[in-house]
Amino acid sequence: MTKVVIDSVRLEDVINTRHTILRAGQPRSSCYYPEDSYKNTIHYAAFIDDVLMGCASVYKESHPDFSLKQSWRLRGMAVHQDLQGQGIGTQLLETCINHAIKNKADVIWCNARDNAVKFYKKSGFKIIGDEFELPNIGPHFLLAKNLGIHIGQTHFLKIAKKLFSKNQTVPVPQSRVKS
Ligand SMILES: CC(C)(COP(=O)(O)OP(=O)(O)OC[C@H]1O[C@@H](n2cnc3c(N)ncnc32)[C@H](O)[C@@H]1OP(=O)(O)O)[C@@H](O)C(=O)NCCC(=O)NCCS
Repeated sequence: MTKVVIDSVRLEDVINTRHTILRAGQPRSSCYYPEDSYKNTIHYAAFIDDVLMGCASVYKESHPDFSLKQSWRLRGMAVHQDLQGQGIGTQLLETCINHAIKNKADVIWCNARDNAVKFYKKSGFKIIGDEFELPNIGPHFLLAKNLGIHIGQTHFLKIAKKLFSKNQTVPVPQSRVKS
């Protein structure tokens, strides 16, 4: 496969890809997320021959129902259509996970579209809770990966499910708007 280079980029650099892949037909303004302005936010892009072919962003942000300390959130994961399925998404995902680990994350989470759940599960993310619907986008799942070396995977899932189930009856919180 052609050499893929992953690098950190400015927010503006990922907007076109977010728009084409994640928000086609929606206003460009929908591609700017509130978390983009957080202090610890970082955007990564995958380049092939200096052309941006994929992107992902990672934020220091707790999930309201999932209040483990040092939570990081993944958002805006997208690879250009004709290059999907060639490992670029996995390289971006691993870069984001490594960034969170370097910053002492205990957990990394995302709201994943149902069609991308298998992709995240292959990198060790677990489904937490039930499917939920995001307006204009479709069905999603909350997925999380345990990064805390002191929490065993089984114990982590127990904690996560317990925290999450407390709020099962509450409607989708604001923070879960959009993937
Ligand atoms: C989801 C996405 C980012 C994955 O990137 P990618 O470069 O295509 O993924 P990879 O090639 O690294 O795939 C890794 C594994 O996940 C699987 N996978 C990737 N996308 C998948 C999908 N949409 N459905 C099912 N499996 C998928 C691949 O089959 C691969 O498994 P394999 O090694 O057994 O074949 C990319 O397909 C994409 O941009 N999709 C459209 C936008 C989207 O849904 N983004 C996620 C929002 S939550």
